[in-house]
Amino acid sequence: MRFGGRLVVSMALVMLCGVLVAWLVAQAVGPGVFRDHMERASHEPGSVAAHALEAFVSASTATLAAALGAAVVTSLLAGFLVSRRVASSLRNTATVAAQVSAGRFDVRVMPPGIGSEFDELAGAINAMAQRLGRNDAMRRRLMADIAHELRTPVATISAYLDALDDGVEVLSPATTEVLQAQASRLTRLADDLGAVMRAESGAMPLDLVPVDPHELIELCAESLRPRYERSGVALVTEVRPGTPRILADRDRMGQVLGNLVDNAVRHTPAGGTVRLTAEPHGAVVRFAVADTGDGIEAEHLPYVFERFYRVDVARDRGHGGSGIGLAIVRALVLAHGGTVSVLSPGKSMGTTFVVDLPARPDGPRWHPFSRGH
Ligand SMILES: Nc1ncnc2c1ncn2[C@@H]1O[C@H](COP(=O)(O)OP(=O)(O)OP(=O)(O)O)[C@@H](O)[C@H]1O
Ligand SMILES: [Mg+2]
Repeated sequence: MRFGGRLVVSMALVMLCGVLVAWLVAQAVGPGVFRDHMERASHEPGSVAAHALEAFVSASTATLAAALGAAVVTSLLAGFLVSRRVASSLRNTATVAAQVSAGRFDVRVMPPGIGSEFDELAGAINAMAQRLGRNDAMRRRLMADIAHELRTPVATISAYLDALDDGVEVLSPATTEVLQAQASRLTRLADDLGAVMRAESGAMPLDLVPVDPHELIELCAESLRPRYERSGVALVTEVRPGTPRILADRDRMGQVLGNLVDNAVRHTPAGGTVRLTAEPHGAVVRFAVADTGDGIEAEHLPYVFERFYRVDVARDRGHGGSGIGLAIVRALVLAHGGTVSVLSPGKSMGTTFVVDLPARPDGPRWHPFSRGH
């Protein structure tokens, strides 16, 4: 019940108590007083009216006094009980809010049970504490991950610089290459972190225009084809006729598909195939990047979109990956109002990433013989 309802009920109970006391007192006192006065009137001829009036006044005074007294006592009692519970609930809430603001996110407010508004307030404060706790844990983990990622290249660079300084190493093309590789790894890490932060906070402006999925896919495939040819992996593209256009930022969606297709080639041995496709699927356009490569075991699947998550840390870091690519993919797809998911039957059985983006309502559909809509 809401708090206002409870207050109305307690007021009604106070009134009821007054009425009940009035009735009881009137029943108990009234007849006796009347009988007494009538008896006295029978001994004093001519005084009936005066006695009746006196009986009425004293009976109603007694009734009124008792009823008012009972109402005052019960309303004081009800006021005291209600205000005590309200005050203790507010004190409790204030204490928890102060603890949360001091950085303790594991504290919770007990629902006071004095009206649904108070329970809702307790629920909202608890949800806020939980959310802040989760953000705080994420922030800590992110800092630890960044520090960890920075350590290796920075340690390598400074070890080489020390060796050059001591004359143990000379500045040969090989040394320069190592230093450059580590420096570019740091630059890429900074760029990727910046991109994922901007996309996740919604601060990345999207230049949304109607985009033809066919054009998007071909552009992505063309830019990565040399890498595929070098790795001996076949890249197949296919857009189902009738696939509608989407409202998207061309560069950002290019980045999404690029990251997925880049991962696919890295995880597919020579002789394998990567299929990059788009098709209509209800109200969305479904993009898929399916490879016949390493696959991902079920236990890792729920985490691959997390920042810095790599299935095989040594191997994945070995090729320069820091595990941010898929976090960028997810943030960008969400910013476009879409969803991204991953499927894999298991190790060495291939992986499929699926990106669903809302189809542009009543936009023209792509048809193999009518390009350029
Ligand atoms: N197609 C795939 N097949 C098998 N495993 C994959 C595939 N795509 C991603 N993964 C796994 O998911 C992890 C996370 O991918 P993500 O793109 O976020 O990071 P990365 O490629 O290692 O580094 P980055 O993209 O930052 O260079 C990878 O390290 C890899 O273990
Ligand atoms: Mg990647």
